[in-house]
Amino acid sequence: MISTGIEGLDRLLGGGIPENNQVLLSGGPGAGKTLLAFNIAYNLSKKGINSGFICLDEESSMLLRNVKATFTNIKDIDDLINSKKLAVIKSDIYSKAIQNTEHIYKINDIIGELTSIISSNRDIRFLVIDSLTTLRFIFAEDREFRKALVTILSFIRRNNIIGLFTSEMYTSERKDLRFNEEFFIFDDILTMYLNTESNRRMPLIEVIKSRGTRHQWVAVPYEITPFGVNVIAEQED
Ligand SMILES: Nc1ncnc2c1ncn2[C@@H]1O[C@H](COP(=O)(O)OP(=O)(O)O)[C@@H](O)[C@H]1O
Ligand SMILES: [Mg+2]
Repeated sequence: MISTGIEGLDRLLGGGIPENNQVLLSGGPGAGKTLLAFNIAYNLSKKGINSGFICLDEESSMLLRNVKATFTNIKDIDDLINSKKLAVIKSDIYSKAIQNTEHIYKINDIIGELTSIISSNRDIRFLVIDSLTTLRFIFAEDREFRKALVTILSFIRRNNIIGLFTSEMYTSERKDLRFNEEFFIFDDILTMYLNTESNRRMPLIEVIKSRGTRHQWVAVPYEITPFGVNVIAEQED
């Protein structure tokens, strides 16, 4: 079991992320998926679990600018990057795929990209892919994508890495949650909501599934603070 370094999230997960589980972090736009995923990668890298963050949606400089502007009390991001405990990697596989329509992208292109990322970064044990939604657009068909995803997940698992994939939901509301294709493939599923309560949005996070743990069955509030993401979960008996 690997602690996420976020106390409330560990409680929600029934202790943490089981070794080798593959995690889906899903939510609507602006829920804080990218920030939470980065926060966990940062926490793990600080504890000696080398982590990588693959940006498919944006430049790595933009990601770093945003996380630093949000987590203003976290001061050692660059130190961790310089000491190779944390790697932020921009992958241009998506932009290549949309520019070069001659080349039909195959699973092997992605496995090749991941192999080179894993081998050029020291002993990565935790890897964020932000986002799976963008990765999906590389594939013309859902069937191809599902096949690719199963292959990618088993490749990551074989390399003893916990993968965390962010994914876009088309609703922010808990009551409107629909399970996308990918929900059925992952070991752990976390969802972030921005529920409407009269004229306010209420951030809530929930574990839908966690294989191998007795996780909690409630959606609990979270907040994005200068020190990191705070998940407000009580200890259950
Ligand atoms: N300094 C900050 N303090 C608190 N919340 C912030 C701050 N900066 C951004 N946010 C929140 O984080 C959201 C963006 O988070 P992000 O992880 O990029 O979302 P997602 O990846 O789910 O689309 C913003 O919409 C805003 O609500
Ligand atoms: Mg994002």
